[in-house]
Amino acid sequence: MVDNDELIKEIEKYAEENKVPIMQKEGISYLTEYVKNNEIKTILEVGTAIGYSAICMALVDSKIKIVSIERDEQRYLEAINNVKKFGLDKRITLIYGDALNTDLDSKFDLIFFDAAKAQNINFFTHFEKNLKNSGTIITDNIYFHGYTFMDEDKIESRNIRGIARKIRNYIKFLDDNKSYTTEIKNIGDGVAVTRRNDVL
Ligand SMILES: C[S@@+](CC[C@H](N)C(=O)[O-])C[C@H]1O[C@@H](n2cnc3c(N)ncnc32)[C@H](O)[C@@H]1O
Repeated sequence: MVDNDELIKEIEKYAEENKVPIMQKEGISYLTEYVKNNEIKTILEVGTAIGYSAICMALVDSKIKIVSIERDEQRYLEAINNVKKFGLDKRITLIYGDALNTDLDSKFDLIFFDAAKAQNINFFTHFEKNLKNSGTIITDNIYFHGYTFMDEDKIESRNIRGIARKIRNYIKFLDDNKSYTTEIKNIGDGVAVTRRNDVL
């Protein structure tokens, strides 16, 4: 029987060969440690791709339940397949659709944004109601491969300049939000950890 480590390596290899953007090793280690150390049991993920990060988080503890949203049909179908290989289909619920058109009632210990980088403010405002009072929002790709804090004149692509600007706007949006405290961690491609401040 193939063990979980082998299956994880197969997904990593498949992602590399097929240019599927999955979390970097350092980022996924941070995320799974966070889940473990903070006894996270319910997670909403925006941006499943082929299920890699959802599977890694679910493997931390058998009590963990995850809802993950993906708008690309091919990737969603691959994620279903991968989740089944690990026997995690009872604990990982995959939703096919645009996250911004997805309305959920449940509340989560952790919300993880790893989808369209330019949409993070919209994801935040859309899903804030789904965060438990003691919950955390984690956002990946804050550095955007170094473009976020690069001098704009040095970025040739207008599209990349636009995304970098939107990520800077997101960082400002988080910093200005007095209900939350955000730390940007120098991990992987940059991870923002946003915690709700205690309500007095
Ligand atoms: C970086 S990948 C996710 C990687 C995954 N979290 C992992 O580490 O295994 C981002 C994914 O988000 C999806 N995505 C982007 N915008 C989305 C949206 N508005 N709603 C749902 N999925 C979205 C993309 O199709 C893409 O597959």
